[in-house]
Amino acid sequence: MLDATRLRTPCLFDKIVSADEAATLITDGMNVGVSGFTPSGYPKKTTLALAKAIKDGKKCRINIWSGASVGPEIEEALAEVSGISGRMPYYAASNKTLSRQINTGSVTYIDQHLSHFAQQIDYGFYGDVDVAIVEAAAINADGSIVLGPGVGNTPMLVKHAKKIIVEVNTSIPLTLEGMHDIYICSKPPERTEIPIYHVGDRIGSPYVSCGLDRITCIVESDIVDHVRNLSAPDDTSKKIAANLVDFLEHEQRHGRLPQQMLPLQSGVGSIANAVLMGLAESKFDNLTMYSEILQDSVFKLIKCGKVTQASGCAFTPSPTVWEMYKEDPELYRNRIVLRPLDISNNPEVIRRLGVISMNTPLEFDIYGQANSTHVMGNRMMNGIGGSGDYMRNGYLTIFSTPSTAKGGNISSVVPMVSHADHTEHDTMVFITEQGVADIRGLSPLKGEMAAHAYEYQTDIEKGKRTVIGVNKFADNKAVKTNDVITADLSVAERQIARVNEMKAHRDQHAVDASLKALKEAANGEANLMPYLIDAVKTYATLGEICGVLREVFGEYQQGGNLF
Ligand code: COA
Repeated sequence: MLDATRLRTPCLFDKIVSADEAATLITDGMNVGVSGFTPSGYPKKTTLALAKAIKDGKKCRINIWSGASVGPEIEEALAEVSGISGRMPYYAASNKTLSRQINTGSVTYIDQHLSHFAQQIDYGFYGDVDVAIVEAAAINADGSIVLGPGVGNTPMLVKHAKKIIVEVNTSIPLTLEGMHDIYICSKPPERTEIPIYHVGDRIGSPYVSCGLDRITCIVESDIVDHVRNLSAPDDTSKKIAANLVDFLEHEQRHGRLPQQMLPLQSGVGSIANAVLMGLAESKFDNLTMYSEILQDSVFKLIKCGKVTQASGCAFTPSPTVWEMYKEDPELYRNRIVLRPLDISNNPEVIRRLGVISMNTPLEFDIYGQANSTHVMGNRMMNGIGGSGDYMRNGYLTIFSTPSTAKGGNISSVVPMVSHADHTEHDTMVFITEQGVADIRGLSPLKGEMAAHAYEYQTDIEKGKRTVIGVNKFADNKAVKTNDVITADLSVAERQIARVNEMKAHRDQHAVDASLKALKEAANGEANLMPYLIDAVKTYATLGEICGVLREVFGEYQQGGNLF
């Protein structure tokens, strides 16, 4: 029941309407902005009522704009009655009906870098926000809104909305109040820097600004967010986490990372959650996070003292982690800052703080490209989300994934990705349970070699491959041997004499001419085989032929940044 703790001035009670009434504000063709982010803090009652009205005959298809994917009360309920015509800027395949409609083209879906969307709404690129539906914990006496666990693009949607429906949800703990830091950038040319210099800096207001007169109506709700439980870490994700920790320690040893670890970003899904959890076992302390989404593992890392400060645009605790939060809300409120999506994912801030970006792709290839979105190149899984924002701008960017999917039937490391969201221009390090490929400073082809070289090296280090003098018998102690075959050096002398004899009797002019022709051909585009055959026919030696080719092509030099 709504009371003065949630509606903090009497006139707000006059705005309470039923969800059915609120839904009448939404009509065919509208752009409807909704609060929330994967799936937390999204409205539920009004869209369920709208879906029911459409089922009962109301003609209405709308464009839904959000922070990221939201829950089934919006994406499934409306998709099932064909109530969605367009979707921006992200969706998740867990909403199966919408996924089908997007993949068959009956819903227009525009997949965007998440940091772009709010500012593009501000620039007017997509037209008006006809209605914004915002889930809130409370409304202050001046009309400003206390959000729940997901900020997403809500501040910008509220700024532009012609009508605002606020769903005040009594299941959201009021202890979240104060966690938010709402800041809206000015538009160019007035835009200045975003003054965040440390993960925990607060630069705005705890509330979304919205005058009382702009709130069209209020709907009471108590439906909880549909956050799925993430899979528990398995052996594969534990190995990925161990490889990640090894790699970060290695970077510190080589002075490429400071001893106080830079802020971490961790992507969506079970793998990212499990990999981050692996840091609990590491020697790293006082970790901070500057991330888009804060999943379960962040709460656990805060609780065990590993993470001291975390910033994101939403948190998505599973039901068990919500219970953990409720045991000590003060702990999490002091450690967590929730920001608008265009601030959490802002390239300027990510670069300034030196964020270590860690995301999960569907697959990556030997040239350093990654596919985050399209299964087999054509079926949209989830959107690109913030992966591009972080992977283009992080201090160090790491894609980690199990090396296979679908029970080992599909390789996630492929010769060429079927869809490239991240090209070799953006990527640095790939980690699977098999090891690490560090392609910084390598051309795409050398990156391929680096992956093999790394594998070779780790096999040696782990003793899977024996190299005498390196990982076996490396202590220089004399090894007792039985009879050893020794080469007869006279064989070499005989062979040198034979070559000299042959050179003395060959037509040196013909040799010189054939090597000259070979060199000219090697400098151009011609097929070298006929020239090689001609040279061999004049008795040019292998050494002479290779010497010519070396002059033209040089020698392969292994890149220096493997470990
Ligand atoms: N080919 C086909 N399917 C694949 C695949 C591949 N190479 N790799 C993974 N999948 C499938 C899995 O089988 C699973 O399918 P299912 O739901 O039918 O079982 C699904 O993708 C999810 O994979 P899962 O193993 O459960 O991992 P996850 O929950 O960690 O999600 C991504 C992995 C790639 C889907 C997820 O990280 C993502 O959406 N990434 C892109 C967006 C992003 O990076 N956001 C970060 C924002 S900052």
